[in-house]
Amino acid sequence: MSRIKIETENRIKEVADIKEVVEDFVKLRRRGANWIGLCPFHHEKTPSFNVSPSKGIFKCFGCGEAGDAVSFVMKHENLSYPEALRYLARKYGIEIEEEEWDDEARARQQRLDSLYLVNDFAREFFEHNLHETDEGRSIGLSYFRQRGFREEIIRKYQLGYAPRQRDALVQAARAKGYNPELLEALGLMRNGRDFFVDRVMFPIHNMSGKVIAFAGRILRKDAKAPKYINSPETEIYHKSRILYGIHQARGAIRREGHVILVEGYTDVLSLAQEGIRQVVASSGTSLTDGQVHLLKRLTEDVWVIYDGDAAGVQAAIRGLGLLLEYDLNVRVVVLPEGEDPDSFVQKEGGERFMEYVRAESKDLVLFHLSQVQDRLRDPIEKTKAVREVVETIARIPQSSKLKRDQYLRECARLMDVGLEALIYELNRLDRARLRKEARKQGVDPAPQAGPEVVKRPTRSGPTPAAETHETQERDLVRVLLTFADKPMDPESGDTVADFIFANFEPVLLDLMDDAVARQIIEEMLSRYEAGQPLDTRYFLQQHPDEQVRRFAADLLFAEDDYSPGWDRHHMPLVTQPPPEENHVADAEKALLNFKLRKVIRLLAQKTRELAEAEKRGEEKQVQTLLQQVAALQKAKIELARALGVVVV
Ligand code: CTP
Ligand code: MN
Repeated sequence: MSRIKIETENRIKEVADIKEVVEDFVKLRRRGANWIGLCPFHHEKTPSFNVSPSKGIFKCFGCGEAGDAVSFVMKHENLSYPEALRYLARKYGIEIEEEEWDDEARARQQRLDSLYLVNDFAREFFEHNLHETDEGRSIGLSYFRQRGFREEIIRKYQLGYAPRQRDALVQAARAKGYNPELLEALGLMRNGRDFFVDRVMFPIHNMSGKVIAFAGRILRKDAKAPKYINSPETEIYHKSRILYGIHQARGAIRREGHVILVEGYTDVLSLAQEGIRQVVASSGTSLTDGQVHLLKRLTEDVWVIYDGDAAGVQAAIRGLGLLLEYDLNVRVVVLPEGEDPDSFVQKEGGERFMEYVRAESKDLVLFHLSQVQDRLRDPIEKTKAVREVVETIARIPQSSKLKRDQYLRECARLMDVGLEALIYELNRLDRARLRKEARKQGVDPAPQAGPEVVKRPTRSGPTPAAETHETQERDLVRVLLTFADKPMDPESGDTVADFIFANFEPVLLDLMDDAVARQIIEEMLSRYEAGQPLDTRYFLQQHPDEQVRRFAADLLFAEDDYSPGWDRHHMPLVTQPPPEENHVADAEKALLNFKLRKVIRLLAQKTRELAEAEKRGEEKQVQTLLQQVAALQKAKIELARALGVVVV
């Protein structure tokens, strides 16, 4: 045995740039001096994987994995230390110098090295047979040609041919001195014979291009024999963690900013051949977490192209929901009846194919909506259909509020249902999921008032461009979170919470703009009413919704600029003592200011409605609105007076 010289080793470590190395596998984006991305070593949906170019290290704050460029490659590619060094040397064009190595080799590392080696031998054997033998050329190569695959693509994907002789590979391996046990461990040999016989071969590569498994396609139509047979799960092949074509597509996915997901091996080949290189296949099975995770590391946008037969579409939607859970943007393309990507691109060519895709692709949720359109006439069917669509929306992480919100609105519009009902349904599903997750973790489920993520619509709603009241709402939450149990009125013994909730009409909740602020107030209110302690710590540390925890932390840690909006809203900043010295005035002002904003908004709304009702001559409506407007005007004046603010 020989080992890499220490000088070479040092040189590799010197030259290897951690960011460049990681970036071949993980999509990174800048955060300050560091770069962050999704950790490739555990499943996560929000990035906690950090890369520090200046320190030359990576660290995941989610799973704790950390190290330098070499250990990253080892861990990620399942390589031994010397193999990782070789990988980096190749990447940076460094020549490897070796010296004798008498240390005992570590068994597992050697084992993995040998498995990869034997797989690569098999790959070469199949390739050789395809290109260099009469049998392979006349059977395998002519098959590929007849299917329209040209030399370049056949080489690029390292396609091959497994001959008819039932032990051709086993014999060849033996002649080369490979241990038959390794062939067996890789699933290449069974009962002393070749596993792949008389088939065209598709090697399956991991991201860095090592062959980890094979698929073999039968050549004749005939037979009870399956069309494809695949390597079993092995020490180096975990089907659920790989997508066919990921190695070849990796660069193109980054360049194009999206990935095209198809079902079959031949779809990948045909698209890539026509210049659509950002393509991978799920290999006919439904997507797994590991596969989606793989994609998420490379891009945010997934375009799924399905065959023209509508049968599987419904099931497909369910399967694709997994992509939504990772907050990916998913577009779906349905090809014309009877076509699959392979046949369609061969017929149309790459450009026309992409034109079709761009024109016909639909956002997954909207696609789902369009699929249920014809069930909307029957009221019972309609209820079910609405549920199904909201179930799809519910799979989008709660943190993506805007996305969820937009979908709900679109859903309400296209299905002609009230937004309120959809939000109710969504919240119900969120709570159900939360309970399920909590149970799974053996934690007590969240308190009754589960997270509300999407804003409830205001009665007739502010126009999107209208002024929002986040500042005032957050300020009110801040007061509640910081002073809930402090005395407000020494005489009555009322606390700040008593004061605020006594003056907080529940209808105000519906008028809130900031979904998280609203959620906290709502939960505090229900705790308050249930006589539970208003424990700030609960929101800060234990609340199941990360958004809430962060919101609480932000508020409490940013005491310095505790009310950034006050100046803008004509609050007497100069005379305002720091909040902790005067929580009574602080609480009062926060509540009054909050209410004043809401009243002003309502007043504008009601005035508009009044004008409209007058125009339409709806006398009764006009009367009601007049009274409401008068009451609001009065409230506005009182609030303004209490605040010491002049409101025109
Ligand atoms: N598949 C499989 N085993 C089978 C059938 C299918 O593993 N017995 C997987 C393969 O990854 C295949 C994919 O499912 O590529 C899609 O199947 P299908 O559409 O039947 O095959 P195509 O890829 O279209 O292959 P071809 O064009 O050669 O018929
Ligand atoms: Mn096909």
